[in-house]
Order: sequence, then structure tokens, then C-alpha cells
Amino acid sequence: MEREILLKIKNLKKHFNVGKNQILKAVDGVSFDIYRGETFGVVGESGCGKSTLGRTIIGLYNATEGSIEYDGIDLTKKTTSKENRDLTKRIQMIFQDPYASLNQRMKVMDIVAEGIDAHGLSKNSQDRAQTVVDLLNTVGLQEEHTNRFPHEFSGGQRQRIGIARALAVNPEFIICDEPISALDVSIQAQIINLLKDLQNKRGLTYMFIAHDLSMVKHISNRIGVMYLGNLVELTTSKELFKKPLHPYTQALLSAIPIPNPKIEKTRHRIILEGSLPSPINVKEGCKFSSRCAKADTICREKSPEFVEVEKGHYVACHFVK
Ligand SMILES: Nc1ncnc2c1ncn2[C@@H]1O[C@H](COP(=O)(O)OP(=O)(O)OP(=O)(O)O)[C@@H](O)[C@H]1O
Ligand SMILES: [Mg+2]
Repeated sequence: MEREILLKIKNLKKHFNVGKNQILKAVDGVSFDIYRGETFGVVGESGCGKSTLGRTIIGLYNATEGSIEYDGIDLTKKTTSKENRDLTKRIQMIFQDPYASLNQRMKVMDIVAEGIDAHGLSKNSQDRAQTVVDLLNTVGLQEEHTNRFPHEFSGGQRQRIGIARALAVNPEFIICDEPISALDVSIQAQIINLLKDLQNKRGLTYMFIAHDLSMVKHISNRIGVMYLGNLVELTTSKELFKKPLHPYTQALLSAIPIPNPKIEKTRHRIILEGSLPSPINVKEGCKFSSRCAKADTICREKSPEFVEVEKGHYVACHFVK
């Protein structure tokens, strides 16, 4: 079956000017496609550029270079105001911190209705209220919650409000930026199940950001692994866990505990030395070379290309051919 490409990212860069000729390369040449209806996971350590990638796709930041093609429209080029309005409905984002991302002074009714109001999607106030109640029910909240403020809710409930707000404009693509990281483990599964359920019912496409591979394993069809502004590996979720090819992915996987104590005791662990280097004034060569056990002269001199080594399996490493 031919899969439809919904989002096509080519050589996307987002550099921040951080003063005195200092450029911070938060996203530094990333290319990938997202198919309609899939969940595309993006993982990597804190500071590797995941949120910047999401924010650039949704237009909160202007891209420094490269293209973002959404259903045939290049978002980095000037779009007409009609296209723009249309796109802000089609693409939505759910944020990392459900507390900071909701306006504390607004009632849930108005928070959820923001998109409805902005796009004139309700006929009258009764219709508006009914739509909000329906949305709240969809995410597992009730009518009585409409008159409350965000601080009156738990973290999980707040994230449900954020999801209802995103759904209000009936989007087709949602960027979920670590929507469960701030939540208790017991609540995480509930939010994941809700997102999965919504995807099935509404045919949604997700880009799901997380810093931990185990969080995206079960919900992602494909996963992209990021390191310091670049994708280092991309393949199906199954393949990534079965046959990780990039030393960084191998290290991330070896850090996930295995529930079987026998295997856990004997298996080989790869310890990553040091922390993520600064993305300011990065050196030549492979960015992972400073922490990679396999690194050789070539790795320090030349940055590896992101190549398809097996069908649909992309890797950026000099030692994987
Ligand atoms: N508006 C900004 N101005 C300057 N630098 C920024 C800005 N936003 C992000 N950065 C820098 O860009 C890099 C990537 O940040 P980003 O927030 O995208 O990482 P992340 O992968 O989402 O991390 P986390 O897992 O902690 O959320 C970091 O070094 C960060 O300090
Ligand atoms: Mg982030």
C-alpha cells in the first residue's frame, strides 16, 4: 500500500543567535517524512532540539533554512492568509508542561473554546458551550469542570484540558511535545490510551516527542532518534528495538531496564560518558564522536550523512554502511 506523505521536512535548521557571534544550532539539518495516520516518535536527551523542531514545524519559530511541506504547502514560504487560517486549524500542538501551557486566569470553558472563537466555529454561545462540554467528555472530563480554573485540576486532568483545546478545531495533525513526562507513571498510561483512542476515532496523525525510548515504543509506528540538532537514526519502532544501528541508539536502548532479572544481570550495558555537549559553536565531524566508543579520526573530521542503509532504515554513522 502506498502511504500518503502528510509532512515532508527537508534539511530543516533552526539556529538561535545568542549574542557575540555565537550561534546555537538547536536544529541543524533534519530531514524526514511523516505519513498520514501514523505516530512518528522523536526521542533524544534534554536539549537535543526536540521542542525546537516541533515549534518550528508549527510556526512558533521561523526556520533558518530548509523546507517544511505540509500536504503540499511549503510552510517556510509565505502563505496566503486563507492558507494560514486553514493550517492553524489542521495542525495543533500539545505541550510538555500542562501547567505552564494553560492560561491560569481563564476558565476551562474559555481555554477550550479559544480555537473555536478564533475560527468562528460556533453559531451562538449555546452551541459553543455544548461543543466545549462534548470535547471535555471526549477527553474524560465533565460539564461541571467548565467553570473551574487550571489550578483546580491535577496534572493529568490539565493535560486532558490541553488535549481538548487542541481537538476543538478538529485538527488532523497533532505535535505532542512530551505530553506525559510531567505526569505520574500511573497517569501516563491513561493519557497515552486517550491519545491512541482519539487517533483511531479521528484518524489523527501524531508527532510524539519524548526523551525516553521506552515511552514512545508502543505508540510509535516509526521513531527518529535525535542527537544535538540532528537525526542519527530513523526506522520503524520494531526495527529500532530489534536492530539499532547507531551507537547512540544502542546506548539509549541499553539504558532501559529489562524486567527479567536474569537477562538484566548478564546483558551488556553501554555507558554514555559525559553529557550532551553545548550546541553553541559545535566542532567539525560527527557530533556524537566525543562520547562514542567507536569514534575514529574520520568521525572527528567529517560529519556522516544520513543514509538509507536498509529499506526505510536511515542512519548517520561512518561505521554503518
Ligand atoms: N528561544 C530560544 N533561544 C535560544 N536558545 C534556545 C531557544 N529555545 C531553545 N534553545 C536552545 O536550543 C537547544 C534545544 O532546546 P529544545 O528545547 O529544543 O530541546 P529539547 O530536546 O526539547 O529538550 P527537553 O527534553 O529538555 O525539552 C537547547 O540548547 C536550548 O537551550
Ligand atoms: Mg522540549
